[in-house]
Amino acid sequence: ELAHEFREPVTLAIIGGTGLYRLQALKPIAKLSVSTPWGMPSSQITIARTKTGFPIAFLTRHGPHHDLQPSDIPYRANIAALKKIGVKVILAFSAVGSLQEHIKPRDFVIPNQIIDRTKGIRKSTFFERGFVAHAGFGEPFDPKLNKIIGNHCSDILEGDGVRLHTKETEKRDVTLVCMEGPAFSTRAESQLYKSWGGAVINMSCIPEAKLAREAEIAYQMICMSTDYDAWNESEEPVTVEQVVGNLQANSDNAHKVAEKLIQILEPKIASGEVGSDLSGSMKFSVSTKPP
Ligand code: ADE
Repeated sequence: ELAHEFREPVTLAIIGGTGLYRLQALKPIAKLSVSTPWGMPSSQITIARTKTGFPIAFLTRHGPHHDLQPSDIPYRANIAALKKIGVKVILAFSAVGSLQEHIKPRDFVIPNQIIDRTKGIRKSTFFERGFVAHAGFGEPFDPKLNKIIGNHCSDILEGDGVRLHTKETEKRDVTLVCMEGPAFSTRAESQLYKSWGGAVINMSCIPEAKLAREAEIAYQMICMSTDYDAWNESEEPVTVEQVVGNLQANSDNAHKVAEKLIQILEPKIASGEVGSDLSGSMKFSVSTKPP
C-alpha cells in the first residue's frame, strides 16, 4: 500500500507520454492526488526515490488508461500540480512523427524550437481574471537540459542504428510542430510542415511547454520517433499501429534515457545549476498596472 502523502519537496518530474506509463527501476513510495485551482491532473502523481534518496515525480499525460485526447488533457492542472509539490525541472516524453528522412522511426529527438499548429482551443495561460502576462518563449525549451541530454544520452541507445538528434548533431534548429489532432495530418499539411523545416510532429507539446515557462519550471521534451507521418508519397501514411508498435519495441530505450538523466540531474538540481534559471522571471512579464 503506497502512501498518499509526501512532505518533502520533489524537484524533478517526468511526464510520460504514449507508451511510457510508469518508471521502471524506481520503486514507487507514494501516490498523490494533487488538487489545483485548475482541477485534478491527468493522473495521480507517483513519487519514487533513487538509491541515494532523491525523490522523483511521475505523471502520465494521457491518464493511466490513455483515455484523454491531446485536446482534452488538463495541461494547467498537470503543471500546477507539479509546481505545487516543488518541481523545478520537467522531462516530458512524447511520441512523434518524423518529418525528415534521416530521422528514422525509433530515433530520439531533442527539439529546441516549436511551431504551434494547435487551434487555440486549449487553455494556454495561468494568467486570467485581471492579470495579463507575456512570458518569454523565444527559446521554448531549457537550453541546459537540452545540452545535458545531448551530451549523455547518445551512447546509451540500443538497437540497429538508433540515433539521438539534437541541435548539435543537426547543426540547425530542431523544430517540433505541435498540431491539434486527434486525426493525423493530411499529406499536404505534412509536406507543408516539412517545407517549413520541421523535424518532428506531435499533438501535446503546446500548451505544456508554455505553462511550464509561466510556472518558471525548466522544461525539455524528449521525443521518440515512431513514424514518417504522411509526407512521403511512396510510404503508407502513419497509423496508430505503427506508433504503438515502435513505442513498445523501443520502450527499453525510453527507460534507459529516463534513468540516465535522473542520475545526471540529481546533483545538478540539488546544487541549483539546473532548474533555477527562470526563478522570479514571471514578475517581469506581467503587464497589468497596479490600480
Ligand atoms: N505522434 C506520433 N506520431 C505522430 C504524427 N505522425 N503526427 C502527430 N502526432 C504524432
